[in-house]
Amino acid sequence: MHIPGRRLLSIVALGAVAALSVAARPAARYLDNGLARTPPMGWNSWNKFGCNVSEQLVRETADAMVASGMRDAGYQYVTIDDCWQVARSAQGPIVVDSARFPHGMKALADYVHGKGLKFGIYTDAGRKTCEGRPGSYGFEAVDAKTYAGWGVDYVKIDWCNSEGLDAKTQYTIFRDALAASGRQIVFSICEWGSNQPWEWAPAVGNLWRTTGDIADRWSSVMTLVDLSSQYWHVARPGAWNDPDMLEVGNGGMTRTEYRSHFSLWAMMAAPLIAGNDVRAMNDSTRAAADIRDILLNRDVIAVDQDSLGIQGKIVQASPSELQVWVKPLADGSRAVLLFNRASVPSTITANWGTIGLKTKKARVRDLWAHTEQAVVENFTSAPVPSHGVVMLRVWPIAN
Ligand code: GLA
Repeated sequence: MHIPGRRLLSIVALGAVAALSVAARPAARYLDNGLARTPPMGWNSWNKFGCNVSEQLVRETADAMVASGMRDAGYQYVTIDDCWQVARSAQGPIVVDSARFPHGMKALADYVHGKGLKFGIYTDAGRKTCEGRPGSYGFEAVDAKTYAGWGVDYVKIDWCNSEGLDAKTQYTIFRDALAASGRQIVFSICEWGSNQPWEWAPAVGNLWRTTGDIADRWSSVMTLVDLSSQYWHVARPGAWNDPDMLEVGNGGMTRTEYRSHFSLWAMMAAPLIAGNDVRAMNDSTRAAADIRDILLNRDVIAVDQDSLGIQGKIVQASPSELQVWVKPLADGSRAVLLFNRASVPSTITANWGTIGLKTKKARVRDLWAHTEQAVVENFTSAPVPSHGVVMLRVWPIAN
């Protein structure tokens, strides 16, 4: 059949429009500040150290991020969570705890930058932080300018002591204050998913918590996965669902469970913010080796950091505790997670059709065993331990 040139063009154009409207996600609803084009990676003090933060801890952690290989694996942001601030001065600027940070935040940011890393800080959009330190309510512009002056690259903004305030309004004030600060600052919204942030936060911040706080136990990880996985369709480059920071290495879960925790975060295109004591990662213990194997697994990190920025989702759950997750990747391959939530080992099978392949043959790489099979036909099937995963990357082979 002959189709005249112009008509052919318009058919192609129509097809492109249709494809776009299916694939995504109206630009106007997204912040698009050019930052966090892949999910942010870094470290945050809270999960391991709580209020016990100091200049010394941050410097030693930055050193260890380099020595352990964390920086070179992609972990960038070194973020001080709650408890670095003690008061607000009469003129407005926040006052840093000078006993714990004797050289001030600018010098610390310089140190972190000197290591090839980026510097993050925490505040609260309400009147006080969760630990009762001064919040930023009413001082958003002052604080944004202060952070920019220190060289802050990332701000996590909490929601404690915000009674009577509207989350979308307050976080939007902060977005505009950060935009006016003169510095490019990644904006991490932390209101624990309590005001449907997936509906408004993509236009306000780069990432938004979808859940309450993580705890270092399996049941907590499952709760967060069940919440954050629901909003897979909202995520895209620059705008990420945040099921909270990692607990890998903090001791409350088995090696199998930590691998699953990390794999699930990668499948969900979640921020990978380590929450362990990075200084202990080079110890010659089995525990330290396990942590390195997990946090430095570049195959799994590549799934999280894939440039398409599509959050993976569940495509098979029958019975519900035996799941298959799929995340499409930029090179046409798919990350596939066989995930056993049950309390007994089980075999999980995924057909190529179910994971969205149109070919009969595929090349398959096991992202934890680091093995590869050149040609696999029709399906994959593997024994999966209780609370464990088998994580694969599957490349279609043209028929
Ligand atoms: C809240 C946040 C945590 C942490 C603490 C600090 O609970 O959700 O991630 O920042 O506050 O007080």
